[in-house]
Amino acid sequence: MPLIVLEGIDGTGKSTQAGLLGDWLASRGHEVVRSYEPTNGTWGRKLRESASTGRLSAEDELEYFLRDRQEHVSELIGPALAAGKWVILDRYYFSTMAYQSLRGFDPEEIRARNEAFAPVPDHLLILDLDVDAALARVGARGDVANEFEKRDALAKIREIYLSLRDEEFAHVIPTGGTPEEVHETIRGVLAGL
Ligand code: TYD
Repeated sequence: MPLIVLEGIDGTGKSTQAGLLGDWLASRGHEVVRSYEPTNGTWGRKLRESASTGRLSAEDELEYFLRDRQEHVSELIGPALAAGKWVILDRYYFSTMAYQSLRGFDPEEIRARNEAFAPVPDHLLILDLDVDAALARVGARGDVANEFEKRDALAKIREIYLSLRDEEFAHVIPTGGTPEEVHETIRGVLAGL
């Protein structure tokens, strides 16, 4: 059944919208499974640890994201879709394309490696917001140099997400409004289902 993916930089409201969308689909009688990446499995936990204890090499990091996703697809995503459930994901392989390309990998190569095992979504909701507004929402602090670095990286990540806008399964969702307004937009986009 349908696989719906939410992507976007931090501060765009992915998990809030995943929740509202899941509740709405469930209220219409669908069986809904919500999940996220990185997962809480073995590889996902290693990735979260590395964020606090010192970063993995670029190669290992990419490898761990791929392994985490392989586990996620075989243990949760694949079986849920096969059982006729709707699957809503907060981040998927488009995050790897966007974030790991900043560490020197070609996003198209990352995409091909993922699509060799990971189902392509029916709908990719690209939650979009300009970087300054997103940083303000997550309450960004820190010294000026770091803030510039962060802004620069997030701007590149946003561009990679937006470069997917012409894919037939992609929808760019502006998220400057209230959570309810954004949810209405998403409902409108999916209304034809
Ligand atoms: P997430 O759990 O959404 O962020 P947070 O911990 O702030 O709630 O994702 C964790 C980080 O992992 C986020 O900065 C994006 C990054 N990420 C990648 O770099 N590559 C990937 O493939 C995925 C799924 C996430």
